[in-house]
Amino acid sequence: FGLREETHADMGRTLPDDLTPEEKQELENIRRRKLELLEDIQVQSRAAAVLLVLVSLCCRKNMQRNKQVAMGRKKFNMDPKKGIQFLIENELLKNTREDIAQFLYKGEGLNKTAIGDYLGERDEFNILVLHAFVELHEFTDLNLVQALRQFLWSFRLPGEAQKIDRMMEAFAQRYCQCNPGVFQSTDTCYILSFAIIMLNTSLHNPNVKDKPTLERFISMNRGINDGGDLPDELLRNLYDSIKNEPFKIPEDDGNDLTHTFFNPDREGWLLKLGGRVKTWKRRWFILTDNCLYYFEYTTDKEPRGIIPLENLSIREVEDKKPNCFELFIPDNKDQVIKACKTEADGRVVEGNHTFYRISAPTAEEKDEWINSIKAAISRDPFYEMLAARKKKVSSMKRH
Ligand SMILES: *[C@@H]1O[C@H](CO)[C@@H](O)[C@H](O)[C@H]1NC(C)=O
Ligand SMILES: *[C@@H]1O[C@H](CO)[C@@H](O)[C@H](O)[C@H]1NC(C)=O
Ligand SMILES: *[C@@H]1O[C@H](CO)[C@@H](O)[C@H](O)[C@H]1NC(C)=O
Ligand SMILES: *[C@@H]1O[C@H](CO)[C@@H](O)[C@H](O)[C@H]1NC(C)=O
Repeated sequence: FGLREETHADMGRTLPDDLTPEEKQELENIRRRKLELLEDIQVQSRAAAVLLVLVSLCCRKNMQRNKQVAMGRKKFNMDPKKGIQFLIENELLKNTREDIAQFLYKGEGLNKTAIGDYLGERDEFNILVLHAFVELHEFTDLNLVQALRQFLWSFRLPGEAQKIDRMMEAFAQRYCQCNPGVFQSTDTCYILSFAIIMLNTSLHNPNVKDKPTLERFISMNRGINDGGDLPDELLRNLYDSIKNEPFKIPEDDGNDLTHTFFNPDREGWLLKLGGRVKTWKRRWFILTDNCLYYFEYTTDKEPRGIIPLENLSIREVEDKKPNCFELFIPDNKDQVIKACKTEADGRVVEGNHTFYRISAPTAEEKDEWINSIKAAISRDPFYEMLAARKKKVSSMKRH
C-alpha cells in the first residue's frame, strides 16, 4: 500500500477518494517525510561534493608536496647542500640540526655517498648536524663491531682524512657514551675502530694473502687502552665477528675504503742485513700503521724491531743478495734512523742503522714490498692523526 501510494504521490496524482481522513493524513505525512529526506540527501551530497573538492585539493597539495620532496631528494643526491636548502626554503624541512639529522638518518631515497659528503663538511653547522646524526644511533650493549656495522651502513664514509677523522671521533664519543666503562678513553675506541676496519680488509680482501691470526690482532693492539691492554676476550669477540662476516659498506664500488685510503698492509719473510754485524737474518716482516715490524717467528708476540717509516725513503739497490731494497733518510746518509729493537736479553734499545738493507725472495715480491712501503711513506695526513693518537694513549702508561 505504502509503496503504491507513494508512487502516486510522486507522480503528483490526486489521492484516491475512498480514503478515510486518517489515511489521508497518514499519506500526507509520508509525503512530507519523503520530501524532507530528499532535501537531506541533497544537502548531504552537496556537503559530500564540497568535501570531495577539499580532499582532492588537499591531495593535490600533498601530491605537490611529495613531488617537491622528491625533487629535494634528487637535488640532495646531486648537491647535498643545495638539496637541503631547497627543502628548507619550501618548508619541507625545518632548519634545525635535529630535523636535518633525522632526515639524513631516515635516508629515504637519499644516496649514502651524498649523506656522507654532507656530514663530512667542516662547516660549523654541518658538524652540529653530524653530532645530532650520530646521537640518533643507539649503540647501548652492542659490541664495537656491531656498532660499526650499523654506523658504517648509515652513510658512506668519504675518502678525505679530515672528514673521516671527525666522523670516527663522533662515532667513538657516541659509542663510549652508550657503553661507559668498556674503554679507558674515546681515543682507545677510535684506534680500535680503525684496527677493526683494517682487519676487515686483511681478512676479506682476496689481494691480501697473509691473513692475520687472532694472536697477531691481539698483539697489534697491545697498550692501546691508555697504556694498558684490552681484555683478550673482547678482542677475540671482535675478531671472530669480522672473520665470520665482513663489513658491508653502502655504494660499494669494489674499491673498498680500506684499500684505497689506508696504506696497504703486507706481511712476509724477508732477509735483513744487520746494523753492526753485517749478517743477513731471516725475519717475518709486517707493514702496518706506517711502521715496519719484524719478528723472529711468525708466532712471536713481541717484534724484534720496529722501524717507523716517517721521513724515510726507499730505493732498489744492487747487492750480492738478489732483489734488494733499502730504507734510508734522504739527504742525510750518516744520520741514524730512529727505530728500536729488542736485544737477546729482552732490553729494548735504539737501533743503530743509517740504512736498512732488505732482500726479498723473488723480484715480484721485491716490487710489491717497494710499492706498499712507498704508499705507506707517501705522507698520508690521516696516518699522522692516527699515529698522534697512538702516541697519546701509549704515553699515558709512562706518566
Ligand atoms: C650515489 O652517488 C655516487 C657518487 O655520485 C654514485 O657513484 C653512485 O652510483 C650513486 N648511487 C646510486 C644508488 O645512485
Ligand atoms: C670489508 O671488506 C669487504 C671485502 O673486502 C669490502 O667489500 C668492504 O668494503 C670492507 N668494509 C670496510 C668498511 O672497509
Ligand atoms: C720527521 O721529520 C720531522 C721534521 O723534520 C721531525 O719533526 C720528526 O721528528 C721526524 N720524525 C722521525 C720519526 O724522525
Ligand atoms: C752504534 O754504532 C756506533 C759505531 O758504529 C757505536 O759506537 C755505538 O755504540 C752503537 N750503538 C748501539 C746502540 O749499538
